[in-house]
Amino acid sequence: MEAREELRVGFVGAGRMAQGLAQGVVRAGKVKAANILASAPSDRNLGAFQDLGCRTTHCNSEVLQHCTLVFLTTKPHLLPEVLQQIAPAVTRDHIIVSVAAGVTLQTLQQLLPAGTKVLRVVPNLPCVVQEGAVVFARGSCAGEQEATLLKSLLSACGLCEETPESYMDIHTGLSGSGVAYVYLFAEALAEGAVKMGMPSALANKIAAQTLLGAAKMILETGEHPAKLRNDVCTPGGTTIHALHELEKGALRATIMNAVEAATTRAHELGER
Ligand SMILES: NC(=O)c1ccc[n+]([C@@H]2O[C@H](COP(=O)([O-])OP(=O)(O)OC[C@H]3O[C@@H](n4cnc5c(N)ncnc54)[C@H](OP(=O)(O)O)[C@@H]3O)[C@@H](O)[C@H]2O)c1
Repeated sequence: MEAREELRVGFVGAGRMAQGLAQGVVRAGKVKAANILASAPSDRNLGAFQDLGCRTTHCNSEVLQHCTLVFLTTKPHLLPEVLQQIAPAVTRDHIIVSVAAGVTLQTLQQLLPAGTKVLRVVPNLPCVVQEGAVVFARGSCAGEQEATLLKSLLSACGLCEETPESYMDIHTGLSGSGVAYVYLFAEALAEGAVKMGMPSALANKIAAQTLLGAAKMILETGEHPAKLRNDVCTPGGTTIHALHELEKGALRATIMNAVEAATTRAHELGER
C-alpha cells in the first residue's frame, strides 16, 4: 500500500458530505489536498474542493484511474448507475468506500467486480465540522489493513468505530437522525430561557455550549450519563425539580421511541 502522504483519495460526488470528509482529512494532515480528486456532473460543488487545494473533474472514471481509496458520495438512488459506470475501472488495488445511506455491502459487492475491497460508512452531519460520529463495516474482501487505514482517515472527522453492518441502521436512529433530536432539544432549552426573559441569541449560544460541555464530560470522564446527571442533583435543589418535570413529560421514553422509529425507517428504506 502507498505511504500515507502519497495516498490518493477520490470522491465520486462532491456534495456536503464529501466536502466535510475531505476538509477533515486535509486539515488533520492525513492526505495532501493535491492528492485528492473529486468528481461531480456540474461545477456547483467542485469549487469548494478547488478552494481546499484539491483537483476536480467531471469524469467519475478518472477518479478511479488516479486514486486508490475512493469514497462514493452521491445520493443513494444514483449509486447503482454510478457503480455500473465505474465498475470497468475498478481493480483489486482499489479500496471503495460507500457513504450512501441504506446501500448494503451485499449490493455494493454485487455491482462491483468480484474481489473488490469494499467498505460501507455511515457518517452524520457534524462530520462537516470534524465532530462527526462515524461507523463503518467492511465487505468480505476488505481486510484489517483497509479497516485500519479508513479508521485513521475518518478519525479526522470525529469519532470513528468499526461495527457489524447490522448496527448501521441503529447508528442512523441514534446519531444520523439523532442530530435533529439534539437540535430540537437545544431549541427548547433556549426557548425556556427566552420565556424567562433572556435574549434569544444569548440563550441559543448558551444552550449549544451546554450541550457541548455535557457531551465532552461524558466522553472525557468515561462516566455513565446517569452518574453525571446525579452529580448535578443537589437534594431539594433546582435540577431535581426540573428533572421531575421532564419525567412527567416522559422525555426518556419519547427519545427511546424516536431512536426506534428512525432505526425501523432506515431498515425499511434500505429494503426498497
Ligand atoms: N448529509 C448527511 O447528513 C448524510 C448522513 C449520512 C449519509 N449521507 C450520505 O452521503 C451521501 C451524499 O450526501 P450529501 O448530503 O453530501 O449529498 P449532496 O450534497 O446532494 O451531494 C451529492 C453529490 O453527488 C453529485 N452527483 C450527482 N450525480 C452524480 C453522478 N452521476 N456522478 C457523480 N456525482 C454525482 C452531485 O453533483 P452536483 O455537485 O453536480 O450536484 C453532488 O456533488 C448520500 O448517499 C447520503 O446518503 C449523508
